[in-house]
Amino acid sequence: MNLSPTLSTAISNFQLPDPLGFGRVTGPVMFVADYINGAWQAGELMTYEPIALNPAATSLQFAQQCFEGLKAFWVEQDEPALFRPDENAKRMARSAERLCMPEVPHTLFLDGVKAVTQAMKPLIPRRSGESLYLRPMLYGMDTQYPLAGSDNFRFAIVCSPSAAYFAKPISVLVERDACRAAVGGTGDVKAGGNYAGSIQATRRCIERGYDQPLWLDPVERRLIEELSAMNICAIIDGALCSPALNGTILPGITRATLLTLADDLGMPALEQPIDINSLLDDIDSGRCSELFACGTAAIVNPIAVLADGQRITRLQQVDAEAARFKAALLGIQEGRSADSRGWMFNSAE
Ligand SMILES: Cc1ncc(COP(=O)(O)O)c(C=O)c1O
Repeated sequence: MNLSPTLSTAISNFQLPDPLGFGRVTGPVMFVADYINGAWQAGELMTYEPIALNPAATSLQFAQQCFEGLKAFWVEQDEPALFRPDENAKRMARSAERLCMPEVPHTLFLDGVKAVTQAMKPLIPRRSGESLYLRPMLYGMDTQYPLAGSDNFRFAIVCSPSAAYFAKPISVLVERDACRAAVGGTGDVKAGGNYAGSIQATRRCIERGYDQPLWLDPVERRLIEELSAMNICAIIDGALCSPALNGTILPGITRATLLTLADDLGMPALEQPIDINSLLDDIDSGRCSELFACGTAAIVNPIAVLADGQRITRLQQVDAEAARFKAALLGIQEGRSADSRGWMFNSAE
């Protein structure tokens, strides 16, 4: 790939942090394509830098913005490979539609993530569990005080060489006050506004010594939904169970992948409503043997403690089945296992 001298210099001067962590640095490369007067313009690879945005833009005023998160792996492969980027492109199209933004064409989305990945090759970590985290985003650029939305948009992709989100089993606190999403709202798309509304509870939970809040359904506050930036799975009666998608949960690509991989691991997979009180009782009785978080950033991360107010429940088993799922997932992503379902996309093709 031919890079401009400025971009080549930015890449060769870039230092990765040690420890790498998750999202600690933004890589020196970004991809930008604009949607102007009803048409997508050609995308461009450039040096990562602040970009001008009118302070009255709809993305800043009304959160007319959505994003994605996906990874390129380069552990055993000849070339860095992207995991299911077509699913991210589809989810971004759904988010865009919900927020009245134009769909980013699949070819533009894929060309963009491939271009950033190829340019970042010298900076992609090659140790197991590490990867290039890519963050595509789409946002409104016009200034509109009446609530009409923009006509002109920007699609951009930034990236971060990263390790997993958490380095150890996490503790989770049931969120009893705030709600993340309402039925008919935007909880099932990846809108930045969903996350703005989650920060307060997430901070509160971290201040209390936990890692992530567990959101409950907004109507009865009884059914578990997801964590602030990842889905949740439980092993109940030997089956992989994840809360049924009900319009308020983000349909995670990792979650869907694990539900598919369960079959390979000889485990039934169920998507069903999971009542928080039954879940806590099932953990106490041993029917629920394990809990874990899953997501692009988290990969598969065991949960050691689930707290609900004063009721603190410790999982009897931590990281047994989660470790099997993580090994199966990373095996495919890192090129050790056959990719029989066509999930990996070579970034050089
Ligand atoms: C709120 C939320 N739920 C779930 C997920 C997991 O989704 P995925 O597996 O597609 O990364 C994420 C991560 O993007 C998230 O932000």
